[in-house]
Amino acid sequence: MTAALEIKGLQAWYGESHVLHGVDMVVQPGEVVTLLGRNGAGRTTTLRAIMGLTGARKGSIEVNGKETIGMPTHRIAHLGIGYCPEERGIFASLSCEENLLLPPELKGAGPGMSVDEIYAMFPNLAERRHSQGTRLSGGEQQMLAVARILRTGAKLLLLDEISEGLAPVIVQALARMITTLRAKGYTIVMVEQNFRFAAPLADRFYVMEHGRIALKFGAAELEAKMPVLTELLGV
Ligand SMILES: Nc1ncnc2c1ncn2[C@@H]1O[C@H](COP(=O)(O)OP(=O)(O)O)[C@@H](O)[C@H]1O
Ligand SMILES: [Mg+2]
Repeated sequence: MTAALEIKGLQAWYGESHVLHGVDMVVQPGEVVTLLGRNGAGRTTTLRAIMGLTGARKGSIEVNGKETIGMPTHRIAHLGIGYCPEERGIFASLSCEENLLLPPELKGAGPGMSVDEIYAMFPNLAERRHSQGTRLSGGEQQMLAVARILRTGAKLLLLDEISEGLAPVIVQALARMITTLRAKGYTIVMVEQNFRFAAPLADRFYVMEHGRIALKFGAAELEAKMPVLTELLGV
């Protein structure tokens, strides 16, 4: 089976600053993989490097078997990747629905979710469809940011700290969303600080430290890995 994402020896820089020192990671189609680590470990940079949004990159990043290390961001996205950055990027002056309709469908991907499907999955966005971006709660903005990339047809989702700063009831709704997307066959890479959110959702875990993968294991090994995980994450 061709991996949805296969990263080998990835190095990345911001200007002179060398941030990733050889990241290796494989994500199979339909998997939910969590990238854990302390602040500054290099998780966001890994997602940005996959999208071609850092400075220089070296190594290999294959998406569905295609090498992307030399590609510009728009070509990488069109391979069917949806990137949800930490800052969410909701346009304040546009309505919820206008935000949803903004990104065009990706050329290389299949059809995106229809607006009706999205509203069925996110009933609170349906209720808020005419509300201005600024009037949405943090949780609604986060759901909108994810819903928007589902519209594009992306099947590989890179989600950066979606649970951050949100109330427990919203975090639970996001967990149900991940479970639903997994059942629909999406491939998901989640960067998380919130271990309790990620733990029951992920098939496999990677832990980063100082721009490298320090530990990787499957969901079945979670309990056995707790002591070393606690040490690495300081939780
Ligand atoms: N735009 C940038 N320019 C220079 N250094 C950066 C930039 N963004 C992040 N870094 C540095 O890269 C390292 C990894 O950061 P980041 O990938 O954001 O970590 P994480 O998402 O795991 O918290 C940190 O040392 C951070 O200071
Ligand atoms: Mg980050």
